[in-house]
Amino acid sequence: MKRIFSGAQPTGNIHLGNYLGALRNWVTLQHEYESFFCIVNLHAITIPQDPKVLAEKTRELARIYLAVGIDPEISTIFVQSDVPQHAELTWILNCLARMSELERMTQFKDKSRKQSENVSAGLFDYPVLMASDILLYQTELVPVGDDQKQHLEFTRDIATRFNRDFGDTFRVPEPYIPKVGARIMSLSDPTKKMSKSDDDATGCVMLLDDPDAVNRKFKRAVTDSGTEIKFDNSRPAITNLLTIYQLLTGQPIVEIESRFAGRGYAQLKQNLADVTVEFLRPFQDQVKGIGAEHLNRILRQGREKARQIAGTTLANAYAAMGIVGASTTDE
Ligand code: TYM
Repeated sequence: MKRIFSGAQPTGNIHLGNYLGALRNWVTLQHEYESFFCIVNLHAITIPQDPKVLAEKTRELARIYLAVGIDPEISTIFVQSDVPQHAELTWILNCLARMSELERMTQFKDKSRKQSENVSAGLFDYPVLMASDILLYQTELVPVGDDQKQHLEFTRDIATRFNRDFGDTFRVPEPYIPKVGARIMSLSDPTKKMSKSDDDATGCVMLLDDPDAVNRKFKRAVTDSGTEIKFDNSRPAITNLLTIYQLLTGQPIVEIESRFAGRGYAQLKQNLADVTVEFLRPFQDQVKGIGAEHLNRILRQGREKARQIAGTTLANAYAAMGIVGASTTDE
């Protein structure tokens, strides 16, 4: 069975963009692929984190994976730091990665601009850790949002380079970026993507927001000039709201457009808020219902399965490069 691998960072709060662009697709794809879903806490520390909050958010994100519908009976859920091979392979790939290609990464440029001082070497190295995540599992497909496209290209490049220099070791993965929802935009500024790190939280609907917050955020959502409610790329604010509506309800575009024909923006926003609240209610109940012991068991199982596969790939990579220790030399 072919494999998928994906992950999210346990920083800030998971939002509708994360769900519609990525997690939602994990849930469907898990039935067709052997699936690995990782909580990437080592990526999180590339920017400063409060240790207590990071530990809490790591477990919360595992609960969110389960509550959106990742089934631990068929998929592997694990925490990145539980599998030391991720950091180890990163070192190997660091020795193949080029400074110039990492300097070109737009996420690095954006994030380092925001931090201007004290940019960590870890932030620069972020894509190499991500490549290690993916390559350790001989991944076929990586379901992500549009903002990860460049990191995926880098992953493909470095896998190809390693295979060329040291022999066939890694499968070269393909990105899976959905046609609809790959880039959900901020409700307060439709020229920017919805983002956890956005200072303006009104633009970002969190999966754990209560109904009041959801209503408030949609009510304040900016709209375009004009009055028509139609999918139209020249009107990004309305198109973004309609895209969220489409994905949450599963209704076809024509049906949505005819439903809102002749109606005002306020009505669209209110309806969308209602749809979102109804979607979030059972999900949030699920999150609350996942006990600590149950979660520990799932994460322990995930850790064991992941370590086994990651261990094999890492050993092959070491051997291919001629890295041998005392215990493996039998001359
Ligand atoms: P993270 O935690 O920023 O986001 C998790 C997933 O959500 C997608 N996403 C969006 N999709 C649509 N619209 C948006 N506004 C939006 N914002 C975020 C992201 O594309 C992502 O798929 N680097 C990754 C985590 C990672 C990873 C990996 C992913 C680490 N190793 C290996 C895949 C494979 C990240 O920061 O995700």
